Amino acid sequence: MTAIGADLRRGPFGEGERIQLTDPKGRLHTITLGAGKQFHTHRGYLAHDDLIGAPDGSTVKNTAGVEYLALRPLLSDYVMSMPRGAAVVYPKDAGQIVTMADVFPGAVVVEAGVGSGALSMSLLRAVGEEGRVHSFERRADFADIAMANARAFFGLDHPAWSVTIGDLVEELPEVVEPGTVDRVVLDMLAPWECLDVVADALAPGGVLICYVATATQLSKVAEAMRDKGAFTEPNAWESLVRGWHLEGLAVRPQHRMHGHTGFLITTRRLAPGVTPPLRKRRPGGGYDVEVDEVEAWSPEALGERIPSEKRVRRVRKTVTAGRVTTTVTESSPS
Ligand SMILES: C[S@@+](CC[C@H](N)C(=O)[O-])C[C@H]1O[C@@H](n2cnc3c(N)ncnc32)[C@H](O)[C@@H]1O
Repeated sequence: MTAIGADLRRGPFGEGERIQLTDPKGRLHTITLGAGKQFHTHRGYLAHDDLIGAPDGSTVKNTAGVEYLALRPLLSDYVMSMPRGAAVVYPKDAGQIVTMADVFPGAVVVEAGVGSGALSMSLLRAVGEEGRVHSFERRADFADIAMANARAFFGLDHPAWSVTIGDLVEELPEVVEPGTVDRVVLDMLAPWECLDVVADALAPGGVLICYVATATQLSKVAEAMRDKGAFTEPNAWESLVRGWHLEGLAVRPQHRMHGHTGFLITTRRLAPGVTPPLRKRRPGGGYDVEVDEVEAWSPEALGERIPSEKRVRRVRKTVTAGRVTTTVTESSPS
């Protein structure tokens, strides 16, 4: 059995392939190769025929002598330059999702929504031809964009993929048998609305991972997972990736970075009838509390540590007596 798109990912450039050109200023241009076609800029043009049949990683000059490096885009390059309906999951988060949700070859995965198909492609890569990705998307126009993006990348409709148009809550029970899904990935505004159908679909021990953009969504979905009673205690995190500038002696972090993409939260399905083990934690305000209930915004509700009266008295005594000694474990920028 051949891996989908493997022949599109090796060998010389072929007609109809999407390739990426890097100009001398580092700007990227994506073109689809066609016999007899030309790539024009304000400084000359180059013939696609000079690239068709050339090996991946070739350089070509245009009519003005400007040199371009031609490479077949990696999945991460492709996702960042492909046409979008909805905002995409960035490659750094897609990598986290595949690894932290343990999406394995042959897995049965449910995904909603599909959006532009960026995450779907990483999931399909991870499950392979013998796995299954059941994706759900409310908007038919977004699903069309996603399917066209994936088809252009894999070279054909991926055999492990099915896309259902409609709301996950209504469609999921129609598409999968209860307790048969290994992994569920939700990238949508209100994942907490889907927890009942997700809990029914997941096999015991199966992983649910949600990608949300704001802290308020994160809090709401975490509380809903706990209230559902069918899941383990959730874990949440975000990942920050900072590129580095590498030039001569100027080896340092880049000045610009994507400061925020989204938060990830995972939990696992308990066996049917099992309730989550009691967990000792400080009392905290549930998400349901009204924001104008002043008491809800107490330090306890916000998870802040309250120093003991004794400690405060000791610190006060030390400070007012001018006997302050500070230990700094790491130097901080001034
Ligand atoms: C941010 S986009 C997903 C982007 C996608 N993960 C990607 O990487 O390209 C969120 C999508 O979820 C869809 N959606 C929201 N709630 C849904 C639901 N309950 N069922 C199915 N799709 C839903 C929206 O229509 C939207 O297209």
